[in-house]
Amino acid sequence: MTVNKVFMQGLGALALLMAAQPAMAQVKEVEVVHWWTSGGEAAALNVLKSNLQKEGIAWKDTPIAGGGGTQAMTVLRARVTSGSIPTAVQMLGFDILDWAALGSLGDLNDIAGKEGWDKVVPTALQKFSKYDGKWVAAPVNVHSTNWVWANKAVLDKLGATPPKSWDEFIAVLDKAKAAGITPLAHGGQPWQDATLFDSVLLSVGGGDFYKKSMIDLDQATLKSPQMTTAFERMAKLRTYLDPNFSGRDWNLASAMVIKGDAAFQIMGDWAKGEFINAGKKPDTDFLCFRFPGTQGYVTFNSDQFVMFKVGADRKDAQSKMALAVMDPGFQSAFNVVKGSVPARTDVPNDAFDACGKKGMADLKEANASGNLFGSMAHGHANPASVKQAMYDVITKHFNGQLDTAKAPDELAKAVAAAK
Ligand code: GAL
Repeated sequence: MTVNKVFMQGLGALALLMAAQPAMAQVKEVEVVHWWTSGGEAAALNVLKSNLQKEGIAWKDTPIAGGGGTQAMTVLRARVTSGSIPTAVQMLGFDILDWAALGSLGDLNDIAGKEGWDKVVPTALQKFSKYDGKWVAAPVNVHSTNWVWANKAVLDKLGATPPKSWDEFIAVLDKAKAAGITPLAHGGQPWQDATLFDSVLLSVGGGDFYKKSMIDLDQATLKSPQMTTAFERMAKLRTYLDPNFSGRDWNLASAMVIKGDAAFQIMGDWAKGEFINAGKKPDTDFLCFRFPGTQGYVTFNSDQFVMFKVGADRKDAQSKMALAVMDPGFQSAFNVVKGSVPARTDVPNDAFDACGKKGMADLKEANASGNLFGSMAHGHANPASVKQAMYDVITKHFNGQLDTAKAPDELAKAVAAAK
């Protein structure tokens, strides 16, 4: 018998032996770390939980409260350091790439290849779902940050319609103030202040200015007179808040608009989830429109479920979760409730309300015209260290601890040090 034949026979015997082995016992559970703790967010997440339950996969919930995910990322670092690895983690933009670079994430290429994810996920999202050619995350949605949410009855009472320019916006905010209504509902937390900043930058200098300052991190643009105007606008917006804004959670600010205690909230479209969860209807009870002067531009963020490297016994449940997240029916059902739009381009808009349809159309248009940009506030414009440096300057200024005249230089300096 030739050596080759012996080898082949050996392989055959090995295959038989393997087939005779019982398959490794699979853990039929996924542990998911996320920060979706508000009413609207929890309702959206329930869609995924129940879909997985139908597949026989239990959901171990690990919610970490704190909008924007800052706290969740801190807890995650501690968990991974201590060797306690979750199955999947809600994550944004550059954080995904950081974890991938550390070699902590799994490889979804088999599933992605079979399911054709490359063809249906927009490249702007793939930039964060893939690392070194490997799929490491399943994108759930696309949110965008340059939105304003308004209470329709309040606007009617003020005789106002959605403002289209900065000056028109200021005029309506003044009207609300004069009528004794809190013009702007806001929560003073760094990520919320930064969410305002995304919109304000676009309103001051459009896509070019946004890209040069937030994405290219160009020093001259960070220090430019346009940046002074942006900080002036932030200081102006600050004058329209109620005295209790400090530290308030974003969903409580949404509740102020829902109840008619405030006229507007400047917030990403997860705010819509709160209106819907409260039984409110777009155009009837509330209005959604792009931050004045930013129609045509979109600053986006995409929640993705990052799949960590897990043992063979947890892989099956993890794959089922990735498949469930990317299911077109799920992407429709989830995003209708969440306020975001699907992360797949092949999901019809039929089930979406007016704001959802507008979100989908705006995204498509901005993408086609080169006006789709990653949100700085939500980790899609620059790495976490730079984002954090920006948060610090923006918040310090917003709280009156840094003069507008000095803020652009401080921003440029902080960015240079963090890069
Ligand atoms: C964003 C996230 C949204 C929403 C929001 C408030 O970063 O993308 O899904 O959860 O924070 O927590």
